[in-house]
Amino acid sequence: MTNTKKLFVKTYGCQMNVYDSERMAEALGSEGYEQVNSPEGADMILLNTCHIREKAAEKMYSELGRLRPLRDANPDLKIGVAGCVAQAEGEEIMNRQPLVDLVVGPQTYHRLPKMMEAVNAGEKALDTDFPEEDKFLKLPKARATRGPTAFLTVQEGCDKFCAFCVVPYTRGAEVSRPAERLMGEARDLVARGVREITLLGQNVNAYHGAAADGTWGLARLIREMAKIDGLERLRFTTSHPNDMEDDLIAAHADCPELMPYLHLPVQAGSDKILKAMNRKHTAAEYIRLIERIRAARPDLHLSGDFIVGFPGETEEDFQATLDLVETVGYGTAYSFKYSARPGTPAAERKGQVAEEVASERLQRLQTLLTKQQRAAQDDMVGRRVKVLFEKPGRKPGQMIGKSDYLHSVHVEGPETLRGQIAEVEIVESMTNSLTGRLV
Ligand code: 5AD
Ligand code: SF4
Repeated sequence: MTNTKKLFVKTYGCQMNVYDSERMAEALGSEGYEQVNSPEGADMILLNTCHIREKAAEKMYSELGRLRPLRDANPDLKIGVAGCVAQAEGEEIMNRQPLVDLVVGPQTYHRLPKMMEAVNAGEKALDTDFPEEDKFLKLPKARATRGPTAFLTVQEGCDKFCAFCVVPYTRGAEVSRPAERLMGEARDLVARGVREITLLGQNVNAYHGAAADGTWGLARLIREMAKIDGLERLRFTTSHPNDMEDDLIAAHADCPELMPYLHLPVQAGSDKILKAMNRKHTAAEYIRLIERIRAARPDLHLSGDFIVGFPGETEEDFQATLDLVETVGYGTAYSFKYSARPGTPAAERKGQVAEEVASERLQRLQTLLTKQQRAAQDDMVGRRVKVLFEKPGRKPGQMIGKSDYLHSVHVEGPETLRGQIAEVEIVESMTNSLTGRLV
């Protein structure tokens, strides 16, 4: 019998990191580690990092610095860095922060148990390969029951090479996981209590997985998963406009399990900037695409990502982004100041935009996006929506869940609602959530 050791995992960045963190915890679970909710008293701390913008990496370094007192208090504490900063900076992390015992990339975390042997023997371990083998095949199969929602990685990597983005370098080339295996994992999740699955990929709508009867695209995968008994809801993220194929648009019309919410980043509204970003479509093409998707699913809530201050962006270019946002209308959106990432083509370009200019543009864009988000949320008041309840709320007697449109909704209701989908009438729109009444 080995003693249980405590593992604390902190996750930065995207939903795929959230998913990877779960899988890493499972992998270490078979090594006797049990996950805990705070770093104090942990035997192992793992930071699962994000490299998409500069601040994210800096956050990781300051977090590592804050762990020093814990190490001083417990010299046996092991500290690891996983994820995309680990992939991109590897050895540099070990050199810059001697507290770090282990560095593991997103494609090699199935090797964690082996790496821990070295770490426990007092060595440092680093693995940032892009191995031939499939990590998902090597990972232990989890059996524990779990909450009603889950992520499932179906595709990883990106071949698009947008000029600003590190993903093609940190996550590698596009790889789709075999369709039947995903069907099996989806059935397993449902057997463990999951009612809603979000299919994940850096370019998820480019999914093309091998199956016995040929290759499945994302639409086929969604349609097949929708047939699984007990699986009530499907979502997918994140997508590229150029991979929004007809069948996927059609699925938004005729597959009731596919939720009316779509994250479809456009990044900018100026054709000149879109071209410089290597997005390979124009603003008009994007707007036309959104019209087609909304024709299929009129109540769709659209979400997006925007970058302001991309090299060469003039006030007029930025105005085109504001115009596009006005035209399209978003339910949710994420906007960022351009951050030059080493190794990406845009980092070397002339015409880098001054910090103050970018900050001011970001503020104007966020004001507009917040107004749209508010309006979309307020518009739910008085409507009846279906809510999948996930957990108790902060106040006693309260339960929280998500609507089809991904709004957080809380109601007065019994704990037995957990894992159930119930009809709710929305009575009030709060800052970040809706209040409803069970119908
Ligand atoms: N600078 C700012 N934002 C970026 N994103 C990706 N790379 C950068 C960068 N270098 C944003 C994009 C992408 C989201 C995940 O992060 O909007 O869609
Ligand atoms: Fe990055 Fe563009 Fe690929 Fe998205 S599509 S991961 S922004 S390169």
